Amino acid sequence: MRILNASGCLDALAAPEVARQLDAFVTKTVTPLPREGNAPPRIAETAHGMLNAIGLANPGRERFLAEHLPRLRELGLPLWVSVGGFCADDYAETCTHLEGIEAIELNLSCPNVDEAADSAAEIVAACRRTTELPLFAKLSAAHPDVAEVARAVAAAGADGLSLINTLRAVALDRLLRPALARGSGGLSGPALKPVALHAVSVCHEATGLPIVGMGGIETGRDALEFAVCGARDIALGTVLFSDPGAPTRVREELEAAATEAGVVIVDDGKGLAKSPETQRKVPA
Ligand SMILES: Cc1cc2nc3c(=O)[nH]c(=O)nc-3n(C[C@H](O)[C@H](O)[C@H](O)COP(=O)(O)O)c2cc1C
Repeated sequence: MRILNASGCLDALAAPEVARQLDAFVTKTVTPLPREGNAPPRIAETAHGMLNAIGLANPGRERFLAEHLPRLRELGLPLWVSVGGFCADDYAETCTHLEGIEAIELNLSCPNVDEAADSAAEIVAACRRTTELPLFAKLSAAHPDVAEVARAVAAAGADGLSLINTLRAVALDRLLRPALARGSGGLSGPALKPVALHAVSVCHEATGLPIVGMGGIETGRDALEFAVCGARDIALGTVLFSDPGAPTRVREELEAAATEAGVVIVDDGKGLAKSPETQRKVPA
């Protein structure tokens, strides 16, 4: 099992020592044009999680490619670039400019922008025509049948899935006003974990594609639960804000968590090779 960061939860240039604990670094989502993002406050704490309404703030494709990507390469880590946009052509155009990275993650699921996107399968198909790099489709569990979306993006040429993005939610402040200027935001952190485990489980059943599981992972035990539900690799998001040492800690905790649960992790170089015990079916 490899440990990645969840997109948008780590600035590798500001905190290279955190990034170097990872097996691969995933960038913040890049859109064709620069975006300031939403007005502050854009972050709020909730019970068992946090809300963010960053709104895909990023320098835009041109500056990302010219300034950020070359500096990220200096970290010496395998890189995943998270690509966003507002129509299939936006995504496909960015994909044509990407090379020398390990994979592209297509952010098909940001809850913090108002623009309606083309369908997930349409976007994946457009990107598939422009690049041979592995394409990971990042989906939201907000869809009533996430497995159906997973099947559609698999048929359109996705090589893997990243599951899950945040879920739209609201928090109120002491005076009962929305805590975020935008009103709603994306819920992340431990509150998301059961939803994410379900999504990983049904999408694994539906497609058999490699899955990067994320959503509230804080411990080695959490990571193991994602593996049992079908994730090959995992990503750490919200936990990085409170514990920058989480990648190393979670990696260390994995072994003990597996022993305690009576399962064995066999690393075959591709991720988690499941032992017979971990192959047991997890009910959808
Ligand atoms: C502050 C913040 C910014 C995020 N930005 C992005 C982003 O740019 N692109 C994306 O695909 N997901 C983004 N996400 C979602 C995370 O990548 C991840 O899917 C989600 O937070 C669930 O994982 P977690 O509970 O471990 O944080 C963001 C999450 C947070 C908390």
